Amino acid sequence: MSGNKPLKGIKIIDFTHVQAGPACTQLLAWFGADVIKVERPGAGDVTRSQLRDIPDADALYFTMLNSNKRSLTLDTKTPEGKEVLEKLIKKSDVMVENFGPGALDRMGFTWQRIQELNPGMILASVKGFSDGHHYEDLKVYENVAQCAGGAASTTGWWKGENAGPTISAAALGDSNTGMHLAIGILTAIIGRQQTGKGQKVAVSMQDAVLNLCRVKMRDQLRLDKVGYLEEYPQYPHEKFGDVVPRGGNAGGGGQPGWILKCKGWETDPNAYIYFTIQGHAWEPICDALGKPEWKTDPNYTTAKARQPHIMDIFATIENFIKDKTKFEAVDIFRKFDIPCAPVLSMKELLHDKSLRASGSIVEVPHKVRGSYWTVGSPIKFSDLKPEVTASPLLGEHTDEVLAELGYSKDQIGKMHSNKAV
Ligand code: COA
Repeated sequence: MSGNKPLKGIKIIDFTHVQAGPACTQLLAWFGADVIKVERPGAGDVTRSQLRDIPDADALYFTMLNSNKRSLTLDTKTPEGKEVLEKLIKKSDVMVENFGPGALDRMGFTWQRIQELNPGMILASVKGFSDGHHYEDLKVYENVAQCAGGAASTTGWWKGENAGPTISAAALGDSNTGMHLAIGILTAIIGRQQTGKGQKVAVSMQDAVLNLCRVKMRDQLRLDKVGYLEEYPQYPHEKFGDVVPRGGNAGGGGQPGWILKCKGWETDPNAYIYFTIQGHAWEPICDALGKPEWKTDPNYTTAKARQPHIMDIFATIENFIKDKTKFEAVDIFRKFDIPCAPVLSMKELLHDKSLRASGSIVEVPHKVRGSYWTVGSPIKFSDLKPEVTASPLLGEHTDEVLAELGYSKDQIGKMHSNKAV
């Protein structure tokens, strides 16, 4: 970490697992918070052993979501474990959890109890649905949230053999909810500076997905009003129903766009670009394609005039780039200020020089794995360059954290024999 550490001194009990919660606390750890991951003795976060690529080493699923943290093993269902957690709560600023509904209460740590122990405590939770929701009892994973939050209904194809609600590969339900929660935690920390009191912060995965689908709600309201959506590929040749349709690869905003094939698409699954027809860039597009006559043809001069044959326009562009690689195509269009990008594979992103130089892709040394590549901080500061350090081994910091809480060597040894830690 270079520069200052804005969250230095903030102590976080990280009672999270899988992805949504860990993504949130990892972000806060990058920015300087002391994040203590509390895990069940013996097993720890389930992602340590899920989807392993190296036998007996923490899986990438775990290492890529838990960097910069410390690990404390603690059975919080034993009296000794509960006592340790109480001490930690008294000394910490934030507790983050994403257990199934009611698990924390069943453990004996209700919001009321936590406030008694530490009135300044901020309790931050991720659940599938918000408190009081008719589905509040449900356990939820990523794709369930994408369906409940509107993403699946508006993603994918509306006709053809692949028609149907579709899940995005992006973690809209998990990491996205964690990012929302991080904003809530930082807000509550600032609020506490004013009031001296902590508070409960909660983000449901359904709400976090819906927040990202805001523009689709916009389209529903427009559809209700006018009965059609001009920028969707269904317009004007097909009928609209009463719900926002799936738009395939349409831009969905004011600028029509589509995925276009480039040289080699027959064998390379990612030989494509995304091309956007930005209204005021129409003339440069005509110049780039060598179609100056389109600049004055009334069938092409306005977005409305272009829409009925927008797919023919995309076909013309595709024909223009069929002998060019995706990188060559983008290099041509960027000179004309046209918003476009190659479709980049994970392999290309992993080896991208710019991403490595900026710290968006980083290599992290690890005691057992040797080293692993991971995604670094997407947030860049002028006075902070987060340094990503290894995820902790299970219980790596148990004795250290217990000693900080005032336990003697003998007491710590006893807890180990009792399997409380
Ligand atoms: N010591 C003792 N017990 C512990 C413990 C510890 N350190 N850590 C967890 N536990 C216990 C919990 O108290 C709970 O016990 P209980 O059910 O007997 O009360 C138990 O472990 C299981 O917790 P739960 O969170 O329900 O795990 P699960 O594997 O059944 O469900 C999810 C996993 C993700 C579906 C569920 O946690 C969930 O819906 N979370 C909220 C939404 C979410 O974040 N989902 C996305 C994850 S990426």
